Amino acid sequence: MRIDILTVLPELLESPLNQSILKRAQAAGLVEIKVHNIRDYATDKHRHVDDYPFGGEAGMVMKVEPIFRCINDLKSQRDYDEVIYTSPDGETYNQKIANHLSTLNNIIILCGHYKGVDYRVREHLVTREISIGDYVLTGGELAAAIITDSVVRVIPGAIGDESSALTDTFQDDLLAPPVYTRPANFNGWEVPAVLLSGNFAEISAWQEQQALERTERLRPDLLRRHEEKR
Ligand code: ADE
Repeated sequence: MRIDILTVLPELLESPLNQSILKRAQAAGLVEIKVHNIRDYATDKHRHVDDYPFGGEAGMVMKVEPIFRCINDLKSQRDYDEVIYTSPDGETYNQKIANHLSTLNNIIILCGHYKGVDYRVREHLVTREISIGDYVLTGGELAAAIITDSVVRVIPGAIGDESSALTDTFQDDLLAPPVYTRPANFNGWEVPAVLLSGNFAEISAWQEQQALERTERLRPDLLRRHEEKR
């Protein structure tokens, strides 16, 4: 899979995309992540990527030409399955979308900034708009990093223990059960005895019961979805 991220602030993406699982997945050739500075595609002398909005409102708008040139350049090299725009008014992101995106070959993620992009970009170039939640960030870079992180970790082989991405919270609309590690007793705080029992059937039944109980208590909306699917 290949992910191309278009931004006016490439530095903001450097660290999140080059640590831990994302770093290893790229080194292993499971995913190629390329960050492009939209400013490199600006056409005017001062390499402007933004301009004043028509209509005289406050704030700046990302210009159409540099984004068009950058996306066209990428599209001339390969086909893209989606051109995603990160924006607080997009569809709300979730695990199902992450799983789906991880099955695609090539995607572009365009990071919004300022007051957003010239609307013609959204009308003519963008195929999908994604919000990571009902709050406003200063730019779409952190949203792009979150989308990329969640997509890459579900690519088969990205996580050492193949099964562990499948047992994540949300994968079956249930919150994950509690996990513990050594020591079994710290300060008198004890790990549930069943986890030390070595009886895998009992452990699995306990984990399922805990997942259901936590979901019912913390996210009853998810539990309803989980039950509808069964
Ligand atoms: N840009 C600004 N806020 C955002 C959000 N909540 N999701 C995605 N992109 C954004």
